Amino acid sequence: NRSLVSINDFSREEMLHVLDVAEEFEHNPNQRLLEGKVVGSLFFEPSTRTRLSFETAINRLGGRVVGFSDSASSSTTKGESLKDTIQMVSRYADLIVMRHPLEGSARYASEQSLVPVINAGDGANQHPTQTMLDLYSIRKTQGTLDNLNIFLVGDLKYGRTVHSLLMAMSHFNPTFHFVSPEELRMPREYKLFLEEHGIPYYEHGELTDIIDDADIIYMTRVQKERFSDPMEYERVKNAYVLKKDMLENTKENMRVLHPLPRVNEIHPDVDSSPKAYYFDQARNGVFARMALIAVVMGYR
Ligand code: CP
Repeated sequence: NRSLVSINDFSREEMLHVLDVAEEFEHNPNQRLLEGKVVGSLFFEPSTRTRLSFETAINRLGGRVVGFSDSASSSTTKGESLKDTIQMVSRYADLIVMRHPLEGSARYASEQSLVPVINAGDGANQHPTQTMLDLYSIRKTQGTLDNLNIFLVGDLKYGRTVHSLLMAMSHFNPTFHFVSPEELRMPREYKLFLEEHGIPYYEHGELTDIIDDADIIYMTRVQKERFSDPMEYERVKNAYVLKKDMLENTKENMRVLHPLPRVNEIHPDVDSSPKAYYFDQARNGVFARMALIAVVMGYR
């Protein structure tokens, strides 16, 4: 079976294929590809968008969902291992969608499962389905994925969405700008990857006066749940707040993205700007996830 654990499981051509399928589903969202199929939805961590857009995607494809949105209601609380949980659910369902706090848990689950596993986020590691909807949103708003100026802002250390997005966009000749507090810099392994592939990146400490040539500003939340020291979180939690007046001199076609949920890193006054795209971005998650399910299940 083919699982989706990391965005690196896809080549450039495969990613573009998924985006084309997502576009097809956006134009024609009611499908029957999953008729008679059951999807196990295992969320060991909280979620609004990923879980509900997956469930919407499964419903749109004609399938059904079983699972839990809170591991406290599962036998995990009685001490059942992840291995046994996956062994069981893969005997009930035709596909598993899983979010789990441990890095590497999605890979491990895919090795234990009898059916494909889609990673819906494993700790600070990867969030590949988010990346596919991000790519879809970028291509839809910019008309291309090639040669873009991408600003990644906020928690670049723990933010799994920016790690996956960096790897995916690297296929499309980007220029990256990393804006973060010192403590939350992009991890060294990702910078080394860019250097090895000759992809330019610049690091900044401040958000003001540097965004005018951005094509995409990708804001992120400081990931409170990943800090072992609460005082360190308190020091950096309000590092950046994007406000509407800061967008005045940015490109007409620039769009602000955010995986959501936001806390206070995008001021609500940005919501009324035509450059705010984050809610439409989240809506695109339904089509991107429909496409990923169709591809993983071998229907497209
Ligand atoms: N973007 C994202 O993963 O949101 P949720 O945590 O609400 O699923």
